[in-house]
Amino acid sequence: MKEIYGIFGSGGYGREVLPIALQNIKKSSLYFVVDEEFYLEKYVNDIPVITYRNFINLTADKKYISVAIADGLLRKTLFERFERDKLHHWNLIASNTFLIDNSIIKPGVILSPFTSVTANTRIGRGFHANLYSYIAHDCFIGDFVTLAPGVKCSGNVHISDLAYIGTGAIIKPGNSLKPIIIGKNAVVGMGAIVTKDVPDGATVFGNPAKIIKR
Ligand SMILES: CC(C)(COP(=O)(O)OP(=O)(O)OC[C@H]1O[C@@H](n2cnc3c(N)ncnc32)[C@H](O)[C@@H]1OP(=O)(O)O)[C@@H](O)C(=O)NCCC(=O)NCCS
Repeated sequence: MKEIYGIFGSGGYGREVLPIALQNIKKSSLYFVVDEEFYLEKYVNDIPVITYRNFINLTADKKYISVAIADGLLRKTLFERFERDKLHHWNLIASNTFLIDNSIIKPGVILSPFTSVTANTRIGRGFHANLYSYIAHDCFIGDFVTLAPGVKCSGNVHISDLAYIGTGAIIKPGNSLKPIIIGKNAVVGMGAIVTKDVPDGATVFGNPAKIIKR
């Protein structure tokens, strides 16, 4: 059976996740996949780049794809396209990721090297945890959430769909009766210390994190 694999996006993050992709598959079955307007080079880091249209037209029994793009909304749109084109989601989980039992991880996630997902967590579709980020016990992570590198998400935190947490942010623990809630589409700035709930769509930064007033 012929299986082929695509990493959608050949930019910085695509190149960062490439070694994770090559942990389990042969290099000859892997492509970087891009839309026409981003097709600039035939090879990136020795891996062929092809357009999405050409990837769809390749002959294979099964096609797997993962999205290496940090924008959660774009990942959501791409997932709709992949489902329409009957591609299979491909989880890229680094071999040194620390995963504890009793967690549920939905399809299409990327867990970069040195990340941890600990006990009794629920992780939604299309989640990204960049280098050295962790999710502690009893967290509930929605769909298309992005953790930049080095995010410390303490226990009993709920991060809603499409939220983006910047590099090195720290989120205070909640408890089972009152989790800390990061709202839908919220953005937490790099280095923020989040001590209370963040409303839907808000951008916060600083210590303690406050909403940016524009
Ligand atoms: C919070 C954030 C989203 C705001 O972006 P923005 O709306 O474009 O804001 P600006 O860059 O215009 O900055 C506005 C002001 O806030 C300050 N600021 C921006 N982000 C800040 C942060 N995280 N902490 C403290 N101050 C910050 C800027 O210095 C600027 O201050 P000034 O008005 O006194 O000059 C962004 O700065 C951020 O932190 N993004 C996350 C980046 C990241 O982690 N990327 C990961 C790559 S892998």
